[in-house]
Amino acid sequence: MKKAQLMLDGKQYDLPVVVGSEGEVAIDIRNLRSQTGAITLDSGYGNTGSCESAITYIDGEKGILRYRGYPIEELAESSTFVEVCHLLIHGELPTQEELEEDERALKYHSLIPEDQKKFFEGFPPHAHPMSVLCSMVASLSAYYSQSCCPEELKTNIIRLLSKIRTIAAFSYKKSVGQPFMYPRNDLSYTGNFLHMMFAVPTEEYEVPKILEETLDMLLILHADHEQNCSTSTVRMVGSSGADLFASISAGISALSGPLHGAANQEVIHQLEMIRDDGGNYKKYVEKAKNKEDNFRLMGFGHRVYREFDPRAKIVKAAADRVFAELGHEDPLFEVAKNLERVALEDEYFIERKLYPNVDFYSGLLYRAMGIPTNMFTVMFAMGRLPGWIAQWKEMREDPNSRIHRPRQIYTGHTARSYVPIEERSKTPVYS
Ligand code: CMC
Repeated sequence: MKKAQLMLDGKQYDLPVVVGSEGEVAIDIRNLRSQTGAITLDSGYGNTGSCESAITYIDGEKGILRYRGYPIEELAESSTFVEVCHLLIHGELPTQEELEEDERALKYHSLIPEDQKKFFEGFPPHAHPMSVLCSMVASLSAYYSQSCCPEELKTNIIRLLSKIRTIAAFSYKKSVGQPFMYPRNDLSYTGNFLHMMFAVPTEEYEVPKILEETLDMLLILHADHEQNCSTSTVRMVGSSGADLFASISAGISALSGPLHGAANQEVIHQLEMIRDDGGNYKKYVEKAKNKEDNFRLMGFGHRVYREFDPRAKIVKAAADRVFAELGHEDPLFEVAKNLERVALEDEYFIERKLYPNVDFYSGLLYRAMGIPTNMFTVMFAMGRLPGWIAQWKEMREDPNSRIHRPRQIYTGHTARSYVPIEERSKTPVYS
């Protein structure tokens, strides 16, 4: 077995090395502190493996993403979101019988408890749908048993996968002041969501096939991305023994940040700003490079990818096809392509290997489907849900899993005596 050697204060320590199924190498430091008294410091966890996982593989240098070994390109082309949920959560693509069972179960768990509907009345009309989604998912813990029995967990997983569509669509209906549309059991997973989003009680609504297929693909592309910020949050919260709904709700909160899932809505705001400013791409690329300026090109860069994000390639290629089929024209698509071109020719972006990520083009597709900008991150959450569930379940089933509890290097005052109030000086105001 490979070993790493560490020299600390003139003493040598042997550390075991763990090698993953794709040859990834990790130095196992689980006994580092007890052996040496030292800890590691890695803010942002860029060099820290928090778990061993058999769910998703990413090679950021080569632009590879696979769920359970299957390339994302093949899944996006040939699979459905319900199949991918099964694959991520249970480890294998479903048989025909298993798929029918999943589809049946998802249909029969789509209603939310009727009195939970009243919660929506309490939110202000301008509430962001992500805040509503997060609170509503957390509140599911109040309705359903949290027993650890596998059958109950299986049902809770189905409940969550099914009800997230209803909650997401109701939060949209609330924001536009329209009546909630109940789910329909004759529709597919994505078709049912689109019906709840776009139908009104006064008219017939037939779900356009192209919207159903495009949504299926977008949800597949977002379904898992190994130990990203929201997934690590789900694992972190779940490691304390917190229930599934509470853990996922925490993941939704993590996803709502602009550096993570909310980048998709920020991209649209930024493209609109650039368009309204006369399409001065260079100006915004210069702003993004300026370290004195907080401005960043949203939808660009990634912690893991040092190549094109394979999901961004798929979305960009799909956009041309979907726009043509829908007869949709969006001047922002041109703005996005021009911005991408100018940025990718710039030395700063080349040196740092900053490419468009999945959020750069996904919002443009959602716009073409009629989904409003403030729902984009909710769509991301719906897609990421099976990944969060799979990672939470894997963590719970891992015999080596412990409560997540990082350490720190303390940099504050050393011990000092209590100061009576009349002897204290004013605390400087935070900047
Ligand atoms: N615009 C300008 N400069 C950037 C950008 C950007 N979008 N992204 C990274 N950089 C620079 C950064 O300033 C740093 O420069 P230097 O080496 O001179 O200090 C260098 O590139 C490395 O970046 P980093 O911030 O250390 O990278 P990170 O891994 O900590 O952050 C990121 C990754 C995605 C948060 C970041 O690239 C970013 O803020 N991008 C914009 C927001 C975005 O699109 N987020 C969606 C991510 S993909 C979907 C998801 O998982 O949510």
